[in-house]
Amino acid sequence: MAVVATEEQIRATVTRLAREIDHAYTDPPLLVGILNGSFIFMADLVREMTCDPEVMFLQANSYEGVEQRETVDVRIDPHAKVEGREVLIVEDIVDSGRTLEAIRALLWERRPVSLRVAALLFKSQNFKGSNRPEFVGFEIPSEFVIGYGLDLNGKGRGQSYISTV
Ligand code: IMP
Ligand code: MG
Repeated sequence: MAVVATEEQIRATVTRLAREIDHAYTDPPLLVGILNGSFIFMADLVREMTCDPEVMFLQANSYEGVEQRETVDVRIDPHAKVEGREVLIVEDIVDSGRTLEAIRALLWERRPVSLRVAALLFKSQNFKGSNRPEFVGFEIPSEFVIGYGLDLNGKGRGQSYISTV
């Protein structure tokens, strides 16, 4: 087990991201959190932002343990109002980028005016997508991590710091 980000480092980084996001938008974006992993990041981010954004969540599942599954399941509220909005996806971690691609495709169908991504953690060495997240908290090596919302088989989400397993 090795600590990847302490509680203090996370707090400072979330504050920095909140400022960057506040400055990047003229009107408050619609924050779309990806469950389950992003619930703590979203809760802290939204309280640090000053622009009073609206919040919505999507459910995505692409992992079983540390092994990646073949398909990415994304569930969205069919009544979710995304059209005409500036949308910011809020992700705990972007690894290969496959989950993000699936979420982006689904959200673009609903015609937002813009679609950007805030990722607390980014495993840039593993990333195979074409659009890197616009707002990144920490770039980390390709090791499996838990804590601050991230789990291994449902465990570790409540750990206040981020560590390898
Ligand atoms: P991707 O599709 O490969 O980018 O994987 C992204 C998703 O896999 C994230 O939304 C997480 O749910 C999960 N994931 C990837 N790496 C980790 C990790 O190190 N710890 C916990 N979950 C992870
Ligand atoms: Mg996730």
